[in-house]
Amino acid sequence: MADWNPTSWMSKPIKQEVVYEDTEGVQTALAKLQQLPPLVTPQEIVNLKKSLRNVALGKAFVLQGGDCAELFDYCNQEMIEAKVKLLLQMSLVLIWGANKPVVRIARIAGQFAKPRSSPMETVDGVTMPSFRGDNINGFAANPVCRKPDPSRLVSAYFHSAATLNYLRASLSSGLADLHSPLDWGLGHVITPSVKEKYERIVNRVTDSLRFMRTVGLDTDRGIETVDIYTSHEGLLLEYEQSLTRLLKHPPNAFSGPEPAAYSGSPLGATTTTASSSHPKGYYATSAHFLWIGDRTRQLDGAHVEFFRGLANPIGIKIGPSMSPDELVNLLNVVNPTKEIGKVTLISRYGASKIAQHLPAHIAAVQQSGHIPVWQCDPMHGNTQTTPSGVKTRHFSDILSELRQALEIHRAAGSFLGGMHLELTGEAVTECVGGAGGLTEDGLSERYTTFCDPRLNEKQALELAFLVAGFYREGLDGPESNAM
Ligand code: PEP
Ligand code: CO
Repeated sequence: MADWNPTSWMSKPIKQEVVYEDTEGVQTALAKLQQLPPLVTPQEIVNLKKSLRNVALGKAFVLQGGDCAELFDYCNQEMIEAKVKLLLQMSLVLIWGANKPVVRIARIAGQFAKPRSSPMETVDGVTMPSFRGDNINGFAANPVCRKPDPSRLVSAYFHSAATLNYLRASLSSGLADLHSPLDWGLGHVITPSVKEKYERIVNRVTDSLRFMRTVGLDTDRGIETVDIYTSHEGLLLEYEQSLTRLLKHPPNAFSGPEPAAYSGSPLGATTTTASSSHPKGYYATSAHFLWIGDRTRQLDGAHVEFFRGLANPIGIKIGPSMSPDELVNLLNVVNPTKEIGKVTLISRYGASKIAQHLPAHIAAVQQSGHIPVWQCDPMHGNTQTTPSGVKTRHFSDILSELRQALEIHRAAGSFLGGMHLELTGEAVTECVGGAGGLTEDGLSERYTTFCDPRLNEKQALELAFLVAGFYREGLDGPESNAM
């Protein structure tokens, strides 16, 4: 790409800019980042891209989830394990439901920077910069802590590295070993009939795993561990640019396994088999997958400029303010070769608006010849504030947007490729509803998010059961008895 380089975004207008007083500190931090090793390798990124191509073609499903705003403090054993286990369990349920391999992408190991509706806020009469995420400023409500601090850029790298290190180590040590029994913890489900239904699904999943073991189908790497990819919003371009690396070497210059050709093993894990393509190009190595937020996706803006040069699979959030023409123009800019599955369109309209906007978006994209992954984010269009001023989301709205997305895609001859959720492995009380019956009055019990309200582990698992049920009802393809 002749007119692109990792800093070409600097000549474009930028939204959500971070203004540092300490410009020298920024240069020192960026120089340090440039010399640190990549957090993920091009080989892994290419593997994910191949899997997402299959999602775009309707052959696999992508589950993406994690915190709205990850904090440096979340880099601890308990929280990392809880999130991995939750994503694993949800994916097993979805594999059973959709009868497709599931690609797992966590919002983890770098989901630090947040776009904000207002750059400043007033707390107890004192006006200060808003909290922009742990890699920019501190949450504590005082002007000193809220000042953008460039040393946080390097700290973000090391917290990402430590999180990723434990994620990789625990996966390779058997945290996601499907031979071990999983604790499905369905005790919270208050309705006996619903509980019985979920237990039936769990039994089907565990039976299938037992069957695979009996017939010896579980001897490859697939059942001992699974792949989990990392992702975050690519908001802080100084940081991303410093970790973007040009891959000049031919494929075999990297040690380790060859890039995996996609193999739809029954549990969705990719196995490594030889493949030839490992394209040269610029790889953002802060995570496998980056996305552009709904507030920074201007066609002529800095974020789109940066993203158009990346070899990674990328996401674009789309909401009610996106026109169908603009959507196609955007796809043409970031993916001029119309690579299948290169772009994931993450739609987030809201349960009451999806029917009004998604059909026209699908039609325009179909006409353009682009084949993206269509992913539903049922969180960001459904945020509400309770009368007492607490930000929340209703489980029923989240479910409704997902169901509508499935139905609209099916009616249009398109595929809903996946879902994008804000969730945590902790027992928080931030979203209302679900089988646990959380009400607005119960929100204050364990409301710990630093940004948007997340599904707790039980609500997230329940959502997976329900979405699996939609597939089983034949909403998106024929009923199948496999698994
Ligand atoms: C997010 O995913 O946390 C987010 C800010 O989303 P959006 O860009 O869709 O508002
Ligand atoms: Co959010």
